[in-house]
Amino acid sequence: MDELAPSGIRKVNEKALAMERAGETVIHFELGRPDFDTPEYIKKACIADIEKGDVFYTSNFGTMELREAIAWKLKTQNNIDYKPSEIIVSVGLSEAVFDVMTAILDEGDEILVPNPGWLNYLNVPKLLGATPITYTLKEVNDYQIDLDEIRAKVTPRTKAMVLITPSNPTGGVLAENVLKELAEIAIKNDIMVISDEVYERLLYDDAKHISIASLPGMKERTITLNGFSKAYSMTGWRLGYAACNEDIVKTVNKLHQHVVTCATSVGHFLRTVQYMPVCFAPCSCVCSRLISPSVSSWHKQDNTSICQSGEHIQHRTPYNS
Ligand SMILES: Cc1ncc(COP(=O)(O)O)c(C=O)c1O
Repeated sequence: MDELAPSGIRKVNEKALAMERAGETVIHFELGRPDFDTPEYIKKACIADIEKGDVFYTSNFGTMELREAIAWKLKTQNNIDYKPSEIIVSVGLSEAVFDVMTAILDEGDEILVPNPGWLNYLNVPKLLGATPITYTLKEVNDYQIDLDEIRAKVTPRTKAMVLITPSNPTGGVLAENVLKELAEIAIKNDIMVISDEVYERLLYDDAKHISIASLPGMKERTITLNGFSKAYSMTGWRLGYAACNEDIVKTVNKLHQHVVTCATSVGHFLRTVQYMPVCFAPCSCVCSRLISPSVSSWHKQDNTSICQSGEHIQHRTPYNS
């Protein structure tokens, strides 16, 4: 535990919250949090569910109806054919990262993780006695992954590779040709892929999000992680999910049920078929507000280029800072 580095982002956030409590106005660039409220239709549906009495534990895996809705979303929007039994609803994507890594990593395993990247992908493997091997995302490469670097860093101990696309914090969106080459490397070396797609809706210009699990031969070796925090501005609701093969789901559930029992029942309104198309509809109208004029001009002053996803504007914190 001594080696576990506290999150610099959270440290800044605590300071910002203290400043707010002291009456100061703070513009937050630290947390990956959209600057719009959870859409009204989501709030109303949840309030209706609470009033109906949907306030109890759900199945450990999440309600079957919500998992059916997620499977529908993954099929129609990401082109991946998951069954509800291949999906587990978690307390935000964050919990899924911990559970999934615990399920697949053994002591001494190596896992390739992006740098800069989201801290959890560095710290959770360390907690488990595995070794995170970082690969570098560079602005000169438009934040695409350097495939030669990946090839050079794969060893017989490499168990998995983490992709974050669109990326926090770079904003880069992995291109189809890069994903195809990564898929080839993963298949050739028998490496699993953890694909964090929580920012999939925060796309700008003509950027296109592709799920690596939709590529041939990849579904069986990919764990697709996603959630509701960013696309629907529901960071405080703590609702996410992992989609992967049933064996991993069952292992993940062992940990999940002992630690959190189930994710919040509020939010399972998505199970109502009538809400599915609406709830999973592209939220670009609200997401486009993410870069407000003031933030854009701040960003330009900072002499950095506008990338394809919005989150990079919030922090460009490498792991060690
Ligand atoms: C890449 C990435 N994945 C996941 C999360 C957290 O998602 P959730 O709120 O669903 O736990 C974050 C939070 O900033 C993130 O940056």
